[in-house]
Amino acid sequence: MQRLAIVTVFFAAVGAFAHDFLGAESCQACHPDAYAAWQASAHARAKQVLSPQQQKDVRCQSCHSPDEASQKVANVTCETCHGGGQFYSSTYVMKDAELARLVGLLDPNEKACRSCHDNASPSLKPFDFASKLKAIDHWTVERARRKATQK
Ligand code: HEC
Ligand code: HEC
Ligand code: HEC
Ligand code: HEC
Repeated sequence: MQRLAIVTVFFAAVGAFAHDFLGAESCQACHPDAYAAWQASAHARAKQVLSPQQQKDVRCQSCHSPDEASQKVANVTCETCHGGGQFYSSTYVMKDAELARLVGLLDPNEKACRSCHDNASPSLKPFDFASKLKAIDHWTVERARRKATQK
């Protein structure tokens, strides 16, 4: 309870969540395997599939590079799904699951995917959450590494 109060005061003081993205490279140092998997995925080049003209079109940006205008971070990145990392990405916060979530870490779910993978996206098949989730797996290797280092 006391911690919540401190966090609340902290946010009021810094004007929380304005420009709180750090970029995918900031996650890379501590999550190299997740980074590598993301880098190989379509999300890491979602902006590049657009023509230069389309890259400036806010309609296309809204799914292909949604944080570019407000956060200066292009493509669909770690923080598009997990939330801006400025306040949660120090080691002591990251190791405290509850605190990390209090200061911005999000748990992406099916609804989050569907904010982009909806009927307006040019897919021929309807979005199948389970199989699409498998296609962006960057957690199995992270969890295995964590288990190994905890032994
Ligand atoms: C200074 C190192 C560091 C940085 C930078 C960092 N993390 Fe972490 N992260 C950790 C540690 C340590 C854990 C705790 C679990 C573990 O040991 O792997 C963790 C856990 C997580 C978890 C799982 C949290 C949970 O409770 O389920 C997610 C998701 C995550 N990080 C995402 C990110 C993202 C996205 C970024 C970049 C914005 C980032 N991290 C930056 C060290 C870091
Ligand atoms: C509602 C979100 C959304 C909007 C808005 C959107 N897209 Fe997409 N787009 C997607 C998704 C999701 C995919 C991937 C679909 C799939 O393969 O399942 C995609 C795929 C594409 C692809 C195919 C990329 C490839 O690897 O083959 C192109 C090209 C594309 N979009 C162009 C555009 C353009 C141009 C605009 C703006 C006029 C736009 N999109 C607007 C969500 C969106
Ligand atoms: C398209 C959305 C999306 C993007 C982009 C994304 N993630 Fe994730 N991430 C997820 C989802 C969803 C899960 C949880 C999957 C599950 O539990 O089934 C997850 C899980 C994780 C975990 C493991 C958490 C745990 O509980 O063990 C880490 C660490 C992580 N992501 C870090 C990153 C990093 C670092 C990046 C960028 C290099 C990134 N993610 C990009 C959606 C995303
Ligand atoms: C901010 C918008 C956005 C969100 C949120 C998002 N995606 Fe995507 N996703 C895209 C775009 C845009 C593409 C197409 C990029 C390309 O073709 O280069 C894409 C492509 C993909 C692809 C590769 C193409 C395909 O359909 O097989 C997979 C898999 C995928 N997304 C899974 C997910 C999952 C799972 C989630 C939720 C955890 C998610 N995405 C959340 C925008 C998004």
